[in-house]
Amino acid sequence: MTPASSSVRSSAHPVPGSVAAPHEPLLALDAFTVAFAARDRAVPVVHGIDLSLARGEALGIVGESGCGKSVTWLAALRLLGHGVVTSGRVLLAGRDLTTMSEREIARVRGGRIGLIFQDPTSSLNPVLTIGAQIGEALALHRGLRGEAAHAEALRLLDRVGIADGRRRLRQYPHELSGGMNQRVMIAIALAGEPEVLVADEPTTALDATIQAQILDLIRDIRRDSGMGLILISHDLGVVAELCDRIAVMYAGRIVETAPARRLLAA
Ligand SMILES: Nc1ncnc2c1ncn2[C@@H]1O[C@H](COP(=O)(O)OP(=O)(O)O)[C@@H](O)[C@H]1O
Ligand SMILES: [Mg+2]
Repeated sequence: MTPASSSVRSSAHPVPGSVAAPHEPLLALDAFTVAFAARDRAVPVVHGIDLSLARGEALGIVGESGCGKSVTWLAALRLLGHGVVTSGRVLLAGRDLTTMSEREIARVRGGRIGLIFQDPTSSLNPVLTIGAQIGEALALHRGLRGEAAHAEALRLLDRVGIADGRRRLRQYPHELSGGMNQRVMIAIALAGEPEVLVADEPTTALDATIQAQILDLIRDIRRDSGMGLILISHDLGVVAELCDRIAVMYAGRIVETAPARRLLAA
């Protein structure tokens, strides 16, 4: 990542009382656990995870289906709602997400931390146009409205490889293909100029060709913006292609962390 872009980014998102030390990780899970409240007890699903992401780093999380990859990050970003009990800390440049007010965490999600999920059609709102959904993110996270928001939405669509942006902004998710909707999700994630993108199986629902295109797009955006990446997948090949380092999860635990090259060779 370029030092220039990193300083612009951090000044665009001032967080009172948290000046990151030079070698402090951007994002860290510290003894993080997640349990679901059942009738009379808590069922633990994530058993104490320690992970850290440096500024601009790409970290892959792989593991078989059901091992807790999604739950870890959904709970870390406090997206699971009631009935979920977590312990440990989730530190973003030293600030603990688990103790932030609802208002603060809402600004972090889609702001400093961008999110994309497996199935774009279920994450996009079916009754709002693409333009309205990108506009919402631009208003909330960057205070852009009117002409400025429109121009930025067009730039974002262009950035994610969607042609004919003016027309696309007026369309609804059902009028776009799955790959196109995933590009829209990425545009929405980029609208807040995130320091890190958490992408949970972002290509699993897509055809192989489209999958490769979306991975290329994520790689290009990282190269240009210096954004960090947490890429979650059950597919080691997908993760190895984009990530510097890979953490392997099994049954709610991290069982191994290694440079991508070393894991692939083994
Ligand atoms: N709302 C829920 N209530 C209870 N258990 C859940 C809930 N959501 C997920 N789980 C369980 O948590 C475990 C991890 O799920 P998940 O994180 O989705 O796995 P994956 O690694 O495939 O993303 C699974 O055993 C799943 O059954
Ligand atoms: Mg999952």
